[in-house]
Amino acid sequence: MLFLDVSMEKKYDTNSFMDSTVLPDWLDSYIFKELGGIYSPDYIRYEYNLDLSKEEVKTYLGTYFPRSYAESFCIFDNLLSNGNYFSEIQLKRELSILDFGCGTGGEIIGLLMALTKYHPDIENINILALDGNHYALRRLESIIDQFRLHCQYSINLIVGPIAVSDSSDIELMKDVIQGSFDYILSFKAICELISKKRIPENAYKYIAEILASKLTEKGIMVILDVTVKSPAIGTFYPIYMNNGLREFVKKSNNSFKTLIPLSCYRYERACTQECFSQRLFKITHSRKQNDLSKVSYRILGRKNFVELIMPKLLIGELIIQVKNGENIYCPLSKGVRCLSSFDINNSN
Ligand SMILES: C[S@@+](CC[C@H](N)C(=O)[O-])C[C@H]1O[C@@H](n2cnc3c(N)ncnc32)[C@H](O)[C@@H]1O
Repeated sequence: MLFLDVSMEKKYDTNSFMDSTVLPDWLDSYIFKELGGIYSPDYIRYEYNLDLSKEEVKTYLGTYFPRSYAESFCIFDNLLSNGNYFSEIQLKRELSILDFGCGTGGEIIGLLMALTKYHPDIENINILALDGNHYALRRLESIIDQFRLHCQYSINLIVGPIAVSDSSDIELMKDVIQGSFDYILSFKAICELISKKRIPENAYKYIAEILASKLTEKGIMVILDVTVKSPAIGTFYPIYMNNGLREFVKKSNNSFKTLIPLSCYRYERACTQECFSQRLFKITHSRKQNDLSKVSYRILGRKNFVELIMPKLLIGELIIQVKNGENIYCPLSKGVRCLSSFDINNSN
């Protein structure tokens, strides 16, 4: 049996506020040679993905799957390298993942690769993957089958073909999801609910409330999205996400808290800013060197757990974006040092 090469290359470039990785060889070969993935960026067509045809899913797979893989791998690489976090989960032998809007599941594979790198004692991983596109779900199943050949633990994947027309479908979904999850992911899917005006209120807040109720005591939720402006809301997704998730945290009566960005961890109770945070990731694979993605994201968890893994206060100006080579800071942060708001290991 082949085992994963966990010495995957990963570079963190503080100056450019960027993280990068390389698609593992076996995965590269599988998605491009076996599944027929095509690298062909087309922002207009792939702005909305629920109705992708079987052929179009091949382009999604060859172009956007690797980007989601890289974002997730780098985010969890940073989290799992934190001693406080890792010591809380290292005794677990079984972990569970819920992904809302998983598509072909790049973020699930990125998370699995990071777990494989840091947590060799895992015995079983349960995954519940929800999406309305059947072709994408079939590709995810094939990729997980392939992943099983490369790992030492068992993976139990359940796919949920759920197409959300309006909030009543989300309410239904809430009742259908059984149990609680150590990792809850939603990557670049909520923007598609927003663009089609499927949820009458702020969809980030609404979905976060529902998904967060499914977190285990030490569970982590990552909500990540694109950074473009949406005609449906008249503003940029990161600003809308920031408003919605800040509202969710406040309304939760201190049950939940933001972990990343660190600026939100520290200042979210006082914050009233229209804030645009953005992070860049690069992915290299056989069809493209350093393919760039620009995203905004938050990591949240139950307040007690977040406080437990980040007990120390941070002193410094917290970078939330780099624009034209210039650092943009959280306006509430102060201090002599500059710190990345996205690096959990930036504590004093
Ligand atoms: C940009 S893709 C992201 C897929 C995956 N999370 C990733 O990062 O590669 C958005 C996903 O949301 C799903 N989606 C969009 N609107 C949906 C809806 N109304 N109901 C269910 N799924 C939906 C699409 O099918 C698509 O797979």
